Amino acid sequence: MASDPARRAVAIQADSAGQPPGRGVSASQPRADGGLPPGIPAAAPGSAGLGGAPLAGTALNGRAVPGSGGAGQMAPAIRAIGLTLGFGDRDILSDISLDVRPGVVTALLGPTGSGKTTLLRTFNRMNDKVTGYRHAGDVLLEGRSIWHSGTDMMELRRRVGMMFQRPNPFPMSITDNVVAGVKAHRLAGRHELKHIAERRLREVGLWDAVSGRLKDSPFRLSGGQQQLLCLARALAVNPDVLLLDEPTSSLDPVATESIEALVRTLTPQLTVIIVTHNLAQARRVADRTIFLNKGRLVEHGDTQQVFENPAEEETAHYVSGRFG
Ligand SMILES: Nc1ncnc2c1ncn2[C@@H]1O[C@H](COP(=O)(O)OP(=O)(O)OP(=O)(O)O)[C@@H](O)[C@H]1O
Ligand SMILES: [Mg+2]
Repeated sequence: MASDPARRAVAIQADSAGQPPGRGVSASQPRADGGLPPGIPAAAPGSAGLGGAPLAGTALNGRAVPGSGGAGQMAPAIRAIGLTLGFGDRDILSDISLDVRPGVVTALLGPTGSGKTTLLRTFNRMNDKVTGYRHAGDVLLEGRSIWHSGTDMMELRRRVGMMFQRPNPFPMSITDNVVAGVKAHRLAGRHELKHIAERRLREVGLWDAVSGRLKDSPFRLSGGQQQLLCLARALAVNPDVLLLDEPTSSLDPVATESIEALVRTLTPQLTVIIVTHNLAQARRVADRTIFLNKGRLVEHGDTQQVFENPAEEETAHYVSGRFG
């Protein structure tokens, strides 16, 4: 499979996908992911996966974990522990500790440049090869460090899927885009692929628009349609955690509404983290809300509490639209 020139071309093209301009991926570093982009995990037969014993409790090193209050009974899907990260000399996020509850939607809010995308990209190690990226602290996925030496990168990125701020379809047909990861991971037989593609395209509300041109290039789709295609592709590999970076910023209100409805149906099977600048959207879709500002985690709690009774003045300013 890796020797297929088309697949290799896809891997190279998509490797830097989702990165804002100017974010270089160091060419000199080895490809820890075996040359495939997130969303196109290579087949990893015998992969050990990342499952480990979940950590109990909500305090680390004697410190309360912000946002962990009340989670009690269920192990977090993702736990950040004293996570500090940056590029070069500059810290982007400082000492972030949080528990992401499993099977619910968590909104990640914060002003532009506050580090939301960088945090999401850290959760599936997509920053690792970005020039100058460094981190301290840890991120646990179901209790096990994502930087553990036994981590299978392909499996990590299958389990923690991501839809980027900007769509990144691959240069292959619409159908092949949807099932690219399914094929690469050998999640289904060849005869099932058409059915899977249709199901996922229907799920994201794109089927009617593309059913007559499934073999066409995705690049002729509108930006919003490309975004929906990428969402279908992300869902097709059955991730455990789905990271959505401003998923509806290029969609019209009707498509936005259907994506919000879809997001609600993904839980409790999936854990969803959604970055949005749309405060009303966060209130509509998220059970939990995290507010980041200036590289710090300011507040993390139930969405209703964060919006209606925020503990921090900064949060109150932001959620009331008085920020800045
Ligand atoms: N590769 C990089 N090299 C240097 N700085 C970077 C890199 N990637 C991100 N940054 C910086 O990190 C900070 C946080 O960026 P990030 O994209 O995470 O913000 P954001 O909260 O997602 O913003 P927005 O809401 O505009 O999408 C910014 O100051 C950005 O310039
Ligand atoms: Mg961003």
